Amino acid sequence: MGTDQYQPLQGMSDLAAPDIDIWQALESKSRKLLDGYTVQEVRTPVLERTSVFTRSIGDTTDIVQKEMYTFEDRGGRSITLRPEGTAGVMRHVAGQGPEGSESRLYYMGPMFRAERPQAGRKRQFHQLGVEFLGCPSPAADAECIALQQHLAAEWGLENCRVRINTRGMPEDRTIVSRGLRDRLLSSVSDLCEDCRRRLETNPLRVLDCKHESCRGVVDGLPPITDLMSSEARDYYQDVLHILGRLDVEVEQTPKLVRGLDYYVHTVWEICHPALGAQDSISGGGRYLIPVGGREIEGVGFAVGLERVIAALKEQGKVEDLVEKHRGIWLISSGKAAFDENMVLMQTLRLRGMRCGMDLRNRSMKAQMRLANRQSASHVIIRGDHEMDNGTFILKDMSTGDQEELDMPALMERLHVVPLIDVGGR
Ligand code: HAM
Repeated sequence: MGTDQYQPLQGMSDLAAPDIDIWQALESKSRKLLDGYTVQEVRTPVLERTSVFTRSIGDTTDIVQKEMYTFEDRGGRSITLRPEGTAGVMRHVAGQGPEGSESRLYYMGPMFRAERPQAGRKRQFHQLGVEFLGCPSPAADAECIALQQHLAAEWGLENCRVRINTRGMPEDRTIVSRGLRDRLLSSVSDLCEDCRRRLETNPLRVLDCKHESCRGVVDGLPPITDLMSSEARDYYQDVLHILGRLDVEVEQTPKLVRGLDYYVHTVWEICHPALGAQDSISGGGRYLIPVGGREIEGVGFAVGLERVIAALKEQGKVEDLVEKHRGIWLISSGKAAFDENMVLMQTLRLRGMRCGMDLRNRSMKAQMRLANRQSASHVIIRGDHEMDNGTFILKDMSTGDQEELDMPALMERLHVVPLIDVGGR
């Protein structure tokens, strides 16, 4: 029988020890920091009606055209595994009435895109996303970018680069697309097949095509801000000004457009030099999303957590992030000591200590090995001698020192106040 049956689907992974410690550390540091920015968590379903995504992400985007896991449910309705978090959050806030459209929300969880798996690109990956709704001000864009920088620093990521651009006002869309199309038409023979199609459907997307010949064409174009209204340019300058005041360094990148259709005004990406071709750890921007007959405005970003972890590993920063699980391991020789250690273990746990013991009646040597594997800071050893005397051997695993203590001395050494009978005599 092959071993494939034990593997997850291609492009998907089990998250388990030892990496799960990194995930948990990232998550808990992020939650704490987000609370400081007065952002609240929202958990939306991973499955949504397909229209939730098509109407917001855009029909001509790669995500909608080729990357969604879409299928029919048992009732023949078209449903989709979420490829990103923003659309579902918009569906949620639209149902909340006027208050919902002014919330500050974050989410963490799996997203699904049927992409060709490669380094940094998975079919199931995890995002931490933030959405600030109903605050049409450059200050909110700047706050969002500053928050994202702060998160990266909190995780220990160094040398992140923020690339930023503007897509202009919603009213600028037609004029920018038309102007861009006119300029690109003269070089149409140098464009790849996809970009020739994009000229008709979504000329902006030509700007971030990775094909070398398309890049050559795009490099010769003036910035799209030239085609925009002065209002859009002023908005962008305001964002840059506030970022300067907040000490957030950014690189203006006139060709950055981002691959989702809902963006207006500011767009940005954060890249990390330790990652290869897929070097963007996060992306975001201001958006206008149609939901149920109205449009919700917001600004937000999503970080790809797998890429953050890859960058931290490259930088050798994982150790700093993860707190070592220390604790106490109880070791018993003989049935009486085992029974009393069960009681002691529960007592210590009720007092908030991390501790454990082997329940399989194995040799002292095997129990010690387990204690080492568990990175115990101390072990408490009890055998017939200690049971008779009402004492405990406390061994410090880092120094190897050990001492025989009675119950009050043991509790004092472990900084525990005993409340119930812990089996000492
Ligand atoms: P996105 O640029 O499509 O934006 O994704 C954000 C981040 O998710 C990327 O920068 C990357 O780190 C990670 N990511 C995307 N696809 C994959 C993949 N196949 N494998 C691994 N990581 C991946 C959005 O999703 C927008 N919803 C962001 C946003 C929120 N804009 C406004 N609010």
